[in-house]
Amino acid sequence: MGSNLLLNIASKGHTVAGFDVDSAKVEGLRGRSEGMQIRAYQDPAAFAAALAPPRPMLLLVPAGRIVDEAIESLLPHLSPGDFVIDGGNSHYKDTARRASTLEANGYGFLGLGVSGGERGARLGPAMMAGGTPENYARVQAVLESAAAKFEGEPCVALVGAGPAGHYVKMVHNGIEYAMMQSIAEVYDVLRRVLGHSLQDAANVFDRWTSSPLGGFLIEITASILAYRNPDDPDPLVELVLDKAKAKGTGKWTTQDAMDLGVPIPTIDASVSARQLSESRETRMKLATLIATPGSAVKPSLGAEELGLALEAAFWCAYIQGLSLIQAASHEYGFGTDLRKVTRIWRAGCIVRSRLLVPLAEASDRVSNRDHLLTDPALAARVTTLLPHLRTAVAASAEAGIPVPCLGASLSYLDGYRTARLPANIIQAQRDLFGAHGFERTDRPGVHHSDWGQP
Ligand code: 6PG
Repeated sequence: MGSNLLLNIASKGHTVAGFDVDSAKVEGLRGRSEGMQIRAYQDPAAFAAALAPPRPMLLLVPAGRIVDEAIESLLPHLSPGDFVIDGGNSHYKDTARRASTLEANGYGFLGLGVSGGERGARLGPAMMAGGTPENYARVQAVLESAAAKFEGEPCVALVGAGPAGHYVKMVHNGIEYAMMQSIAEVYDVLRRVLGHSLQDAANVFDRWTSSPLGGFLIEITASILAYRNPDDPDPLVELVLDKAKAKGTGKWTTQDAMDLGVPIPTIDASVSARQLSESRETRMKLATLIATPGSAVKPSLGAEELGLALEAAFWCAYIQGLSLIQAASHEYGFGTDLRKVTRIWRAGCIVRSRLLVPLAEASDRVSNRDHLLTDPALAARVTTLLPHLRTAVAASAEAGIPVPCLGASLSYLDGYRTARLPANIIQAQRDLFGAHGFERTDRPGVHHSDWGQP
């Protein structure tokens, strides 16, 4: 990804130098940089010497200890005013720590979320920067030239102070998990409830590429379902083991949402679904111990209705993620503007879809404190989709097909449209066994009852 981003920046006419400890990567970059102003180094001193201070240095290494090691290897070669940009998927708390250490030593630091995968890095990623406006201004022109464009607008912005860029990227990935899991569930329902062949399912996804939910993840799913490796007897996707790995950004999103008290159940369900998929041996055992439902009543569900259910789950993923960003911005003082975030996600990133356009418009209408679902246009669209989501979840439940993200999305929407929830029961229980008190609907204050207990 690092060499691809470097090639992208160089292809826009900038002079760049690349550094990697791996000689094969250095040679690889040299081989791909013909006609561009690129130099490649394996030695950090030679790399630093090739650049005129003050130097912006962009790191693209996996999150964790290796980022600290990369910074440590550069430190002896930095001079005041030099500027480190971490373009990996670092945890935002690590970014805050690294920024304060580097800034205390007179160096600049920017946490930069980069989305779009390896191809995106070369062709134009979406980028979410966090830090000071002064530091951002130093690299803004370079980043804008390399970023994906949506109707000419570069998909990069300063999304807030401190580690806001990595926070927004973390939540982007949480949304990504939820969209991917929702797609997988709908694929499963197409196959096992509606009885579609793999080719029919591929055709359905292909049709959806030009529907309102069309976007990167729908497009790649259509291609995956249609792909046949000439060396394999079956379509490749049928041969892929059903265990989903994760590097952690989805889990971090869920953890932080729990800390901030923001409900993001569609994203939570997608994290748990990957974890459950990992228990393959247990699943194999239980598949013989717990009976599957008998032949269910033929569901009144069609593929197009399933597409509307999927759109509802996508809305939930976006809205939950953006609600979390709103809350984090207030709690941590990021000053993030959702209007910027929704705009830079319209192209280049993994979660891009046509829905981002009306979502960006909704973020113009809703204040940074209000829930996005209070936007009348979004509420109206969700109202239209809700019956289809309900039918899809009901048909899947009847057939015994797990749809954790679709189900969580339905409960999320049903929860938010319920004026009186059964939380009165929870309050009464807490008061009965722990004297925690409760509020009443008919008078102010905190009350306590013995609930008729001796
Ligand atoms: C992106 C992706 C990218 C990466 C994820 C995968 O926006 O380009 O999100 O960052 O593919 O880290 O995450 P998991 O390994 O956790 O699925």
